[in-house]
Amino acid sequence: MFITFEGGEGCGKSTHAKMLKDYFELFQKEVVLTKEPGGFKNNLRKILLDNDQSLEALSEIFLFAADRVEHVEKIIKPALSAGKIVISDRYIDSTIAYQLGGRGLPEDMVRYINWISSRGLLPDITFLLDIKIEEGLQRTVERGVMNRFEKEIMAFHERVKEKYMDIASKNPQRIKVIDTYRSIDEVQREIRGFLKI
Ligand code: TYD
Repeated sequence: MFITFEGGEGCGKSTHAKMLKDYFELFQKEVVLTKEPGGFKNNLRKILLDNDQSLEALSEIFLFAADRVEHVEKIIKPALSAGKIVISDRYIDSTIAYQLGGRGLPEDMVRYINWISSRGLLPDITFLLDIKIEEGLQRTVERGVMNRFEKEIMAFHERVKEKYMDIASKNPQRIKVIDTYRSIDEVQREIRGFLKI
C-alpha cells in the first residue's frame, strides 16, 4: 500500500504520517516513512528549499522531478516490491498544487513532468490535511527558520490551497480531505478509518 500526505505549510502532515506508521507497526506491518523533497538523501532538497537560492519556476519543477525519480526508483518501488507499506510526506499532488497552482506553470507540462517523474506510480490513498493558511504559516514561524516556500506571499499560498481543493474534488476516490480543526487524536482517528488493516 502506498499512502501520501499532502497539504499547505504547517498542516501537521509529518505528525500524522508518523502516528500512522506507529499504528501500522502495532499490527506488525513493515512501514517505510519517507518524504519529498529529499526522500533519497541528496543535495536537491537543500537547493530546493534554500532561502538564498533564486530559482526559475522551470528549474524548480525539474529539480523536484529529479528528486522524485530518485525517490521512486530507490526508495518507494523497492519497498513496495518487498511488500512494505510506504507513507510519503508529499508526492505528485504537491507539484500540482505548488508548481501549477502556486507558480502558474502550464498545466500540460506539469502533468507530463509528474507522469514521467513518478514513473506512473499513483498513491492508493492520499490524505490532504486542511488548515487555515494563516494558522499553518504561524506554526512554521514558531518552528524557526522559514524555507523558500514558507516565505512566499499570501496570494501564493492561496493559489496552492485552491489547487489542492480542486484536485481533491476531481479525485474523491483517492484524495481524502481531512479537516484539522480538531484534536490531533480525532484527526488521526478519521485517517485510520479510511484504512483497512
Ligand atoms: P518541507 O520543509 O518538507 O516542509 P513541509 O513540512 O511543508 O512539507 O518543504 C517542502 C516544500 O517543497 C513545501 O513548501 C512544498 C514544496 N514542494 C513543491 O513546491 N513541489 C513539490 O513537488 C514538492 C514535493 C514540494
